[in-house]
Amino acid sequence: MIGFLDRLARPLLKALDPEDAHGLAIKMLKFAPLPPAPHDDKRLALRVFGLNIPNPVGIAAGFDKNAEVPDALLRLGFGFVEVGTITPMPQPGNPRPRLFRLDADHGVINRLGFNSQGADAALRRLATRSGAGGVVGINVGANKDSADRVADYVQLIERFAAVASYVTVNISSPNTPGLRNLQQASVLDDLLARVVDARERVAPNAGPTPVLLKIAPDLSLGDLDDVVGIARSRRVDGMIVGNTTVARPPNLLENKIAKEAGGLSGRPLYPLANRMLAETYVRVEGVFPLIGAGGIDSGATALAKIRAGASLIQVYSGLVFRGLGLIVEIKNALLEALEDDGQDASKEQDTLKEFIGADAAAVTAEPWPK
Ligand SMILES: Cc1cc2nc3c(=O)[nH]c(=O)nc-3n(C[C@H](O)[C@H](O)[C@H](O)COP(=O)(O)O)c2cc1C
Repeated sequence: MIGFLDRLARPLLKALDPEDAHGLAIKMLKFAPLPPAPHDDKRLALRVFGLNIPNPVGIAAGFDKNAEVPDALLRLGFGFVEVGTITPMPQPGNPRPRLFRLDADHGVINRLGFNSQGADAALRRLATRSGAGGVVGINVGANKDSADRVADYVQLIERFAAVASYVTVNISSPNTPGLRNLQQASVLDDLLARVVDARERVAPNAGPTPVLLKIAPDLSLGDLDDVVGIARSRRVDGMIVGNTTVARPPNLLENKIAKEAGGLSGRPLYPLANRMLAETYVRVEGVFPLIGAGGIDSGATALAKIRAGASLIQVYSGLVFRGLGLIVEIKNALLEALEDDGQDASKEQDTLKEFIGADAAAVTAEPWPK
């Protein structure tokens, strides 16, 4: 059924303006009669952030910005879903066009700018699925014209903790002017202190809510030292590395579209994202787990991401070019890697752990990616 839908929809989606195609994909997921989530091989299961996750393949933030289809996404076979970015108040984002496909490069540029229906709309939807199970993380961000951006994050943690498997503090979107300044050491320390404090305050009612920090791949290594140091001292539960890049690798084929302002994702982001993931992994020293995102579009790139330091991975742009078959391809590749490794097939959960970060030191020793 999913393969059929995918084959039917992809030529149509590719013929449309990218943002119209995205809107149609959300509608299809809302109304398509999807079968229940597939049963994953037990060897793919992991316990991360105190959550039981059936497989490490998640869908990254930005696909389901308004929490419209988290259960449909779980049914497609994702091990976890991250909805958002959700802002406190509704806001339209930047004017269209603001989403571009770099077909020859298998890349995407977006400058959506946190188009969001706002917290109330997302909360209403998430409340109706309470008790539905599945790991659904909520990615939160500040409104563009907010007078106090830190207060935006604090109120979103307070409001969403009860319906979130985890909350991601997104300070790395390049499309809200000044947002990434929240990654600067003094500001970040205050932000994380207040966010973690908010999480503790609501915990008696909301239960434990892991807080993750999502960073840009464009940080300098000096800034990364600071960010990881603060994340460790403020005891966040994990980091996502990372968001889209404002850089444009020199070898892009779609030169003209590459000049569009915004964040680049997909295949051209992979080398930088993987390097920053490994750089983060060696700095974190196992204190908390990482989610790796950026340019995963095959079983091989997914496994390499885990070997560079990711406990879990997220895909987005790869789905545009490879379709939903990518999910199964990645799971099969991970199982194959376990078998090649001579793993005991009767072992359950956390079998993948031995791959996590196995190549991190080697990746950080390579020449810096162009
Ligand atoms: C169209 C689009 C919208 C996105 N929106 C968000 C967002 O709202 N919040 C966020 O944290 N990341 C957002 N991202 C970034 C992705 O979550 C992911 O970090 C990035 O695209 C790298 O993964 P990929 O190469 O697999 O796409 C968006 C990406 C794309 C392509």
